[in-house]
Amino acid sequence: MADLNSTSKEIVEGAIENLAVEESEKHGTDINYVIDALDDALDVFDVIDSDAIKDKIAASKEEARLKREEAKRIKDEAKAAALAEKERLKAESEELKRIALEQKEAAKKALQEEREAIKAQNLALKEAKLAEIKAANDAKELEKEKERFKKKVVESLTKDNKYETTSQNRKLGPYKNAFTAIVAVLEARDDYTAHHSERVTIMCENFCKVLGLPSAFTTVATTAASIHDIGKAGIQDSTLKKPGALDDDQWDEMKSHCLIGMQIITKAGEDLEYIAQGILAHHERWDGTGYPMKLEGEEIPYMARLIAICDSTDAMLSSRCYRRHLTEDICIEELIKNKGKMYQPELVDIFVDNWDEIVGDLYEEVE
Ligand SMILES: [Fe+2]
Repeated sequence: MADLNSTSKEIVEGAIENLAVEESEKHGTDINYVIDALDDALDVFDVIDSDAIKDKIAASKEEARLKREEAKRIKDEAKAAALAEKERLKAESEELKRIALEQKEAAKKALQEEREAIKAQNLALKEAKLAEIKAANDAKELEKEKERFKKKVVESLTKDNKYETTSQNRKLGPYKNAFTAIVAVLEARDDYTAHHSERVTIMCENFCKVLGLPSAFTTVATTAASIHDIGKAGIQDSTLKKPGALDDDQWDEMKSHCLIGMQIITKAGEDLEYIAQGILAHHERWDGTGYPMKLEGEEIPYMARLIAICDSTDAMLSSRCYRRHLTEDICIEELIKNKGKMYQPELVDIFVDNWDEIVGDLYEEVE
């Protein structure tokens, strides 16, 4: 039996060794299969009591276990790497989606903004067009209103008949030379106001023509214009010719020229009352803040309203001892600025609109 066992042992050992090698080579890393085969071999040879075989089998098992663990480790690593790659791809995909969404939103917003800009532009164009049409209509309305105003003025004057009295005009004749002489004396006293009354008279006459006023009224108004400052004859030289600003007393004295003027004319003849009224009121203001009586609006005699505009225009376009003359543009600007304050608004509009006919080249030589 001893020989048999010894022989069997050698056979089994050889067989196991060959089998393990063959099976390992044949099935690669699938060591479980080899182990199963070894177990099968053990079952066949379990009758053989051989420590060497058991050790060999145990060693083979350990080796197989180690290989299995190594295979598991490699597999786990591959799995983890695959999972990480999957996560990375997922994150990348989400980032791309987010960017695409952002771009889509930005494009949508840009489109919306562009549409709104076009809409706003169209609206602005429409509004500009409407404003243009409205301005054209307003201009037409204004023209009509001015015509209505002029017509009303002429009608009221004709109806009133105050200035249609030929006797009034006839009565002016004897005074005219006297008036001219007084004004000449006055202007001789003050170089700076020389020819002031003459220019105001010319403008007043042109203004009356533009307004289409009756000739009788024009004669009375231009006469009043020619002597509107006649009251300055009663003002002291120290006040009248003072180069700087007037103090309160001097200013009060200067303002009295309206009343003095009226008194002079009234003394000249009681039938000159309309002229006297015009002289008295030529410094009244449309808003009621003028002097000497603080008349307001239509309380101011009509001729005084005309003279006020002509008087201011000449004052602005002439150089005085205390200041240089203004330009025509600034003068027009000032007149417009004072519509409804110093002057009747409609009269300023007509005066400015007919500047060439009324003012003409009176100031062309002024430097
Ligand atoms: Fe005056």
